[in-house]
Amino acid sequence: MANDSSQWLQKDVKEIDPISRQLLESYSGLAPEEVIPHCLAIRDKAFALYPWPCIGQMRFIRLSLASYPSYANALERIRSNPDSRFLDVGCCFGQDIRKLFIDGAKPEQLVGLDLVPEFNTLSYDLFRDASKLSFEFHARNLHDDDADWSPLENRFDVLHLTSLLHIWNWEGQVKAAQRIASFTKPGAILIGSSLGSGVGGEFPNLEGDGTNFRQSEKTFEKFWKEVGEKTSTKWDVKTIFKAMDSTRMNMNQNWAEPTMGILLFEVTRVE
Ligand SMILES: C[S@@+](CC[C@H](N)C(=O)[O-])C[C@H]1O[C@@H](n2cnc3c(N)ncnc32)[C@H](O)[C@@H]1O
Repeated sequence: MANDSSQWLQKDVKEIDPISRQLLESYSGLAPEEVIPHCLAIRDKAFALYPWPCIGQMRFIRLSLASYPSYANALERIRSNPDSRFLDVGCCFGQDIRKLFIDGAKPEQLVGLDLVPEFNTLSYDLFRDASKLSFEFHARNLHDDDADWSPLENRFDVLHLTSLLHIWNWEGQVKAAQRIASFTKPGAILIGSSLGSGVGGEFPNLEGDGTNFRQSEKTFEKFWKEVGEKTSTKWDVKTIFKAMDSTRMNMNQNWAEPTMGILLFEVTRVE
């Protein structure tokens, strides 16, 4: 059961996050009663392709970036300079890109990258916005050393990475972060959050075999020092760790860990 993907398909979806609902009604023009069936139809298509927790549990429509304390800083950088560029790394359905667009970013400033091209195609069905928004999208595996990365290198001022790094073990995260570092300009900020841990360490994956490294505030400092050394860059790391309520955790699962939490971060390239 622990690694059975059907456990991630939420069956009794009666409501979605109110901010996502508002976006779908005001930006996408859906009638209130259309919202849930529409989201479920798209969710089921995506889940049939990739049965991941973030899809099955409807997290793919939740806005992350705008919920962080660093959002105002990100938005100011993008709005005040038309030459600035934003990259959503692991953008999934591009919901955070839509939010930036609504908040005043120009489409040419917005770029998405994800392993799965179908998510990007389906996102225009989800948001019904193909006639008003078109943004640059790259279907890429961050771990692919043979891909041509030149279109993304040394280009971005603000980058978003939510629920991405925790997919991998330490080594995989370092490799992905080295790639992400290559996309940045000096002074760039990386904003996001990951599954974390009060103690930090490798823990069993939520799905499949192997481990994922859950960063603590302390290990995340060390992590960016290592990435900096490997990429000849230097990073200033700010974090907020939010512990999860362990009574609400499924402690019988092999991946559960009593100090589990969410690590929010703003990482600035200082050199
Ligand atoms: C858990 S989702 C988070 C999506 C989004 N950032 C959010 O907050 O809702 C992780 C995303 O990373 C993408 N991803 C996973 N492995 C990747 C890789 N190796 N390279 C690029 N993207 C990857 C997945 O396709 C998925 O859309």
